[in-house]
Amino acid sequence: MFSETNIRKKGIEVCFSPALFPFFNCHNKIVVIVDILRATSVICSALDNGVKTVKPVAEVEEAFKLREAGYLVVAERNGMIVEGADLGNTPLIYTDGKYAGKSIALTTTNGTKAIEVAKGHENKIIIGSFLNFSTLVNWLTDQDDDILILCAGWKNHFNLEDTVFAGAVIEKLINSGNFSTICDSAIASLELFYKAKNDIFYFIKDSSHFKRLEKLNLIDDIKYCLSFDKTNVLPILRNGDLGDLNKSN
Ligand code: MLT
Repeated sequence: MFSETNIRKKGIEVCFSPALFPFFNCHNKIVVIVDILRATSVICSALDNGVKTVKPVAEVEEAFKLREAGYLVVAERNGMIVEGADLGNTPLIYTDGKYAGKSIALTTTNGTKAIEVAKGHENKIIIGSFLNFSTLVNWLTDQDDDILILCAGWKNHFNLEDTVFAGAVIEKLINSGNFSTICDSAIASLELFYKAKNDIFYFIKDSSHFKRLEKLNLIDDIKYCLSFDKTNVLPILRNGDLGDLNKSN
């Protein structure tokens, strides 16, 4: 009979920036990509509102080339829509179902770069945001693999919002009894979430990207991106495209 102590606890790590990713062993781990403001929030909102598939690409040129294949170009740099793109990187434009059935080519300053660095290893790449928080946590709890949360950050720098999200996920997974934090960045993320959890919007209001988006009059985007459980999608990367794991392809 297995005692409680015999069951191996799954490990959770947090990588604060794509620049640090090469220093992690991600083999056979689930890599959760997080870019709360706003790439992973946009991916969840788009797929939850009928967008057929999201193809994340690191470079603007790649996204524009995909227009010839019928993709809508969603391109953002420094928080602003790239000139000539069809759409900017905001989650709110999908909520009326206007883009249902469409395929979008997505390129953003940090989020799609984080996806790029996570590719090519033996692991599952999953998209996390507050919008699909409970769906993500419940699925992670049911898996057998260790978890590496990759924060997109800002141009390879640490950012608050992605790290607070990582802490929120870690709190739930630790409370399930099946996980343990195996790196200091996971412990730091959890402690940051404890400080932020009562009012995340207030806690991040002085952060660099909050202020950048505020200057662009995108406060409504921020509020939406910080909303828990607006969607039930679980975006997973398969053959270069992001689709909802809950829906058969
Ligand atoms: C990012 O890639 O960092 C974000 O998506 C930027 C944004 O949408 O403002």
